[in-house]
Amino acid sequence: MTLSGASLLDQLSAVEESGFDAIQKARNPDMLEVARVHYLGRNGQLADAMALIADVPSNARREVGQRANAVKKGLTAALEQQAKSFTGNASEGVTVRDSTLPARTRWVGGVHPVTRVIDEICDIFADLGFSRVQGPEIESLWYNFSALNIPLDHPAADTMDTFYLDDEFVLRTHTSPMQARVMENHQPPVRVMVPGLAYRRDSFDPSHAPAFEQIEGLAVDEGVDFIEFRSAIRHFVHQFFGKSTESRFRPSFYPFTEPSAEVDVSCTVCGGSGCSTCKRTGWVTIMGSGMVDPAVFEAVGYDPERYTGYAFGMGPARIAMVRHGIPDMRLLYEGDMAFLEQFS
Ligand code: DAH
Repeated sequence: MTLSGASLLDQLSAVEESGFDAIQKARNPDMLEVARVHYLGRNGQLADAMALIADVPSNARREVGQRANAVKKGLTAALEQQAKSFTGNASEGVTVRDSTLPARTRWVGGVHPVTRVIDEICDIFADLGFSRVQGPEIESLWYNFSALNIPLDHPAADTMDTFYLDDEFVLRTHTSPMQARVMENHQPPVRVMVPGLAYRRDSFDPSHAPAFEQIEGLAVDEGVDFIEFRSAIRHFVHQFFGKSTESRFRPSFYPFTEPSAEVDVSCTVCGGSGCSTCKRTGWVTIMGSGMVDPAVFEAVGYDPERYTGYAFGMGPARIAMVRHGIPDMRLLYEGDMAFLEQFS
């Protein structure tokens, strides 16, 4: 389609005239911005007119192009002029607000669902006397493995799972090393919660991330037994998931606990009848746990004849997934605001 040069020149004049008019009438920066977008924006009136230059016979293009540039220059100058007049006005105390403009959206920050889970869990255990501590993410082989009774040739210490920084230091593969650090520095009674990041050489998939939160719990004193341990965990499950959620202890193995158990809760998504979150078993595992192995007490200088204790480690991202029925861990770590906003 061809367009006559004259008609496009007319169109440009019309844009110029109404653009100047809108700029003059803008009474505050918001109105001026609306005018700028409407006339000079990427999809604005001037851009629309300029897109038509290609349809003008070639001998008229130069003139039309020059005119379009002049209109752009003129409107830009008028905008700047008008913008300056607003800053000058402040001293006169005349701030005109157009109450008919739509309100601006205010962005209020929210707490990430995983952080929320961490805070809630620590709060529940705070009621049972646990304080919250943090520890280093760069850990020595001693704390990460040996003090926890994990031999260095154990699969967990294998380079498949562990990020080795050098011969002596690793990125901690779990928060359990803080058990040893806390006990070294405090005499019983000890009751601590240790939230923090742990690292493993895993790729992102629906249930793994190479860096992920863990929460470690440790309670040590004279006379701490499995019954106290079970009731603490039951209390937590009822507080966190609701009174109707059941829990069960399944025998397991960890080098730093004896006996060891995995704690399962009845699936909160399907109520136990079977769904994709619980892989149709009706149960989801929320933590590894057990009674502290005497070898760990020996490593930190506690008398294993005198003290007993329990320890547990959980993954708050996984717990957030169970709580909200989120099918893929990556959703929690991609930083997609539209997704995360649902939980704030
Ligand atoms: N550290 C273990 C892991 O990352 C989790 C764990 C299991 C922690 C049993 C504990 C425990 O304190 O008693 O897989």
